[in-house]
Amino acid sequence: MSKIQIPRGTQDVMPGTVELWQYVEQKARDLCRRYNYHEIRTPIFEHTELFQRGVGETTDIVEKEMYSVEWRGEGGLTLRPEGTAGVVRSYVEKKLYGAPNQPTKMYYIGPMFRHERPQAGRFRQFTQFGIEAIGAVDPAIDAETIAVAIRFYQELGLKGLSVELNSVGTLEDRARHRVELVAFLNNVRGELCEDCQSRIDRNPLRVLDCKNAKCRALTKDAPSILDYLSEESAAHFAAVQSYLTDLEIPFTVNPRLVRGLDYYTQTAFEIKMAEIGAVETLCGGGRYNGLVAELGGEDMPGIGFALSIERLLLALEKQGVELPVDTAIDCYVVVQTPEAKRPAFRLLDQLRGAGLTAEMDYLERKMKAQLKAADRLQARYTLIIGEAELQAGTVVLKEMGTGEQQTVSAGEAVAALISKLK
Ligand code: HAM
Repeated sequence: MSKIQIPRGTQDVMPGTVELWQYVEQKARDLCRRYNYHEIRTPIFEHTELFQRGVGETTDIVEKEMYSVEWRGEGGLTLRPEGTAGVVRSYVEKKLYGAPNQPTKMYYIGPMFRHERPQAGRFRQFTQFGIEAIGAVDPAIDAETIAVAIRFYQELGLKGLSVELNSVGTLEDRARHRVELVAFLNNVRGELCEDCQSRIDRNPLRVLDCKNAKCRALTKDAPSILDYLSEESAAHFAAVQSYLTDLEIPFTVNPRLVRGLDYYTQTAFEIKMAEIGAVETLCGGGRYNGLVAELGGEDMPGIGFALSIERLLLALEKQGVELPVDTAIDCYVVVQTPEAKRPAFRLLDQLRGAGLTAEMDYLERKMKAQLKAADRLQARYTLIIGEAELQAGTVVLKEMGTGEQQTVSAGEAVAALISKLK
């Protein structure tokens, strides 16, 4: 029979690596606790319409990248390509805008799905850690959102990060900018790439995000959205920058920063690291003041970010950062004679009941091989039971690092080990 392979753009996270994931996820949870974000778990699939309306019909995500099915009688369902739309759908459905604690601050960690061309750091199933704060227009929340991401990376030991910041304005700001932008782009239409030509009519701001060098050169002097900000948007943008400065978070303003999702208003940002594989953006986010209303809720503002754990781990690896994960076990119980197996198995159970990480041999290995197995598992201690110990009602407690041994009574073995481990 032929072997069945893993689907392209997905990966197995195996024991030995999963500990890194758990460490990072724990760090995310801990950070969210400190910033008063609470976890929300929404479904992995949603009605397709949610993303069409939320993320935007003319985005690459909705046009090309969604895993959707038509379910008889139920319409379209789609594996979530991102987390924000689902969180906002839930916020509206649960009427959280009426909750006493405002803004509503929520986070999520979970798989997202986009049918992209797989490459280093780009997967078809990837894991986002994201936060969303809904219900406040205060620019301090914008700065806080960026600060959470930066602190997350810094506490994990990542260096060389840069924050790119932009304001994409309100819908009205953008409408005024759009007129001028389209006029400018129409003058160079014939020289732009095919994608950009069609973007002019559908989503002209996205032309500024084209990776094609020729398109970039042609649009170098395109009207900047920053020149079309209303007084309110400009003041908001200035305040976000002041707060970031207060928090000593360096940033650069990039007026060409356009995010790949349509819901953004005013603040948009990305966090990058100098070159991780082909893709350098670690984290992206921004404000979405129209999204709650777009999805049928009250007119509530929101802001958030999402970052991929895969890209984070790649970045840490690139920088040679070792996370302090401890896979060592506390104790390996070594059985010297077959008669010792049952008392050893009981002792093992007691160790685990006392909260220790403990293991024993299940392959009838000789004593020497058992000690080797204990070493492989980085056991701090072994408890050895042989014939003499069985007779005397004792066990030998061996510290693996030093080789030091002592004999203790079987009844006190667990307590003796616990006091050693302290
Ligand atoms: P996004 O920029 O589409 O924004 O994705 C955010 C992050 O998810 C990216 O910076 C990247 O780290 C990661 N990511 C995206 N696609 C892939 C992929 N194919 N493989 C690996 N990682 C990927 C959003 O998703 C918004 N929901 C962020 C947000 C939250 N805005 C406001 N709140």
